[in-house]
Amino acid sequence: MNRFYKDVVRGLSADAKYLDSKYFYDKEGDKLFTEIMACPEYYPTRCEMEIFSQQSTAISRLFKQYGEELELVELGAGDATKSIHLLRSLVEDRVNFTYYPIDISSNVIKQLEDKLPLALPGLQVKGLNGEYFEMLKQLGNTPGKRKVVLFLGSNIGNIPSDGVNAFCKELRRYLNKGDLAFIGFDLKKDPRTILAAYNDKGGITRRFNLNLLHRINNELGADFDLSGFEHYPVYDPGTGTCKSYLVSLAEQRVCVGDTECFDFKEGEPIHTEISQKYAVAQTDELAAATGFKPVKHLFDSRHWFLDAVWECV
Ligand code: AVJ
Repeated sequence: MNRFYKDVVRGLSADAKYLDSKYFYDKEGDKLFTEIMACPEYYPTRCEMEIFSQQSTAISRLFKQYGEELELVELGAGDATKSIHLLRSLVEDRVNFTYYPIDISSNVIKQLEDKLPLALPGLQVKGLNGEYFEMLKQLGNTPGKRKVVLFLGSNIGNIPSDGVNAFCKELRRYLNKGDLAFIGFDLKKDPRTILAAYNDKGGITRRFNLNLLHRINNELGADFDLSGFEHYPVYDPGTGTCKSYLVSLAEQRVCVGDTECFDFKEGEPIHTEISQKYAVAQTDELAAATGFKPVKHLFDSRHWFLDAVWECV
């Protein structure tokens, strides 16, 4: 049986129902996420874009100090609109590198392989379509080449606090001493600003969340009634955790395929996403606890977002 089906059945069978946020990104989900990034309320993309558009030359120089030959890997590359600034600086700086975007969406990888070499002549791109660590494993280890792993956009926020240490440790295992990780963290700020980013007035994030049910209907032959669920995000400034739910508006039964059915009570939630927010000190502690040393903090002008550069020790 396919993994998507298994994961959906496992999540909906749990006492506290959940679905994995990595499944948001089908073709429609990719499109909706692009629309989210353009929403006035969704600040993280613009913050990190400011960092890349204004500090790419400095970032490129820093990378160059670590090695003239690089393998630049990006976890969850998306449309690469931020990384392209850095790619351009590296090309201009005559750094010898290959860009390896990894993404769960085959659609995304195809677009990048088609478009990037046109935008940046001479750029070497090799897309990897799949799960992060499976693709890192496939990439293997070329002696003498430094790896730099980009994990941007606060994608790391999708990992729950109790799993993020294990994630960073696993990432570290695919790297060598002296390699770099470059990680985008969304920082704690006015909770109203954060909550609004996940509850935009235009309702794009709502459609993005509900699209997951639509995808399950389409690909797994389920019969979710989309009007029977509502998008509901919450943010807890104490823990820095933003969570999104789809809440059942009525008592109802939903079947996935012919054999698996699930009962929902009125008001029962499906937890669909975590977007963890950090304090700067927490990111330093995370590095130290997982085999890295923070070597540089890059901020936007409002200090709402942090791109942290970590060296493997
Ligand atoms: C792509 C995981 C960074 O959590 O902010 C945006 C996804 N979800 N709005 C985030 C998302 C709802 C986004 N990441």
